[in-house]
Amino acid sequence: MDFSVTPLTPTIGAEIRGLDLRRPLDDNIMAQVRQVWLDHVIVLFSEQDIDDAQQIAFSRGIGTLELINMAALQVPGKPEIYRATNLNEDDTIMVPEHPVMQTNRDNQKWHSDSSFKHVPATASLLHARVVPESDGETEFANMAAAYDALDDATKEQIDDLIVVHNFYWSRRGVDAIAFTEEEKAAIPPVRHPLVRVHPETGRKTIYAGSHAESIEGMPQEDSRALIDRLNEHATQPRFTYRHKWRVGDMILWDNRAALHRGLAFDAAVQKRRLHRTTVAGNRPTL
Ligand code: OGA
Ligand code: MN
Repeated sequence: MDFSVTPLTPTIGAEIRGLDLRRPLDDNIMAQVRQVWLDHVIVLFSEQDIDDAQQIAFSRGIGTLELINMAALQVPGKPEIYRATNLNEDDTIMVPEHPVMQTNRDNQKWHSDSSFKHVPATASLLHARVVPESDGETEFANMAAAYDALDDATKEQIDDLIVVHNFYWSRRGVDAIAFTEEEKAAIPPVRHPLVRVHPETGRKTIYAGSHAESIEGMPQEDSRALIDRLNEHATQPRFTYRHKWRVGDMILWDNRAALHRGLAFDAAVQKRRLHRTTVAGNRPTL
């Protein structure tokens, strides 16, 4: 190995030390990084003084990038970069009713990025540029470990179910002005297996989170009870890692095997800006 690997918890996460992401990694090292990521679901690289172009270049080593579905969330002129921030262009703090502030609050619910798309995201990478002094951590939960820990009756009950994910279900609190009509039409509800077989590890994972609206063929009340129960089960502390951000931290996670959420912070007073790249999936889940 050309770098060191230290697990962050017994069930999820590893830190890689000894790589400089400012420079291209050769194919052999990239393959080793990919294996660590598949094994641990999330990987932390700290003290990475990289810019957007370097983040995009590293992310492309994992796969083709998604373009962000909402203009207000992009870095101007860079549709590959999603900004998780409470800051305006001039680094002043956004007013609470800014549509992006609502999106930030929605990111406080457990989710898998782009699970509302027919071909959802494979991976995401967040790089910390400005971090609050307190709070504002990001949490990750291992959906393969959560599936394995289900009882056999539940596994049998859910193994062949289809779940409908809908962006406008999870974002039902969002002020309508946050989205243009075009942006809305571009993301209709989509069907996914509730239990996904991970295409690279072969492990079964629970594919729910806050975008999951209903189970096909099930009365809505029962759908909600099942989805809520699975989300609650899957996000117990024993399956999770909570990351306290320092400037320069980069985290790469597997959206096929993890839920994540941002924790609240004093967004009216403290500043936070993380830049995200998102690796697109390459085929539908069904
Ligand atoms: C994201 C996200 C949470 C956070 O960028 O995809 O969910 O902690 N962010 O900002
Ligand atoms: Mn997210």
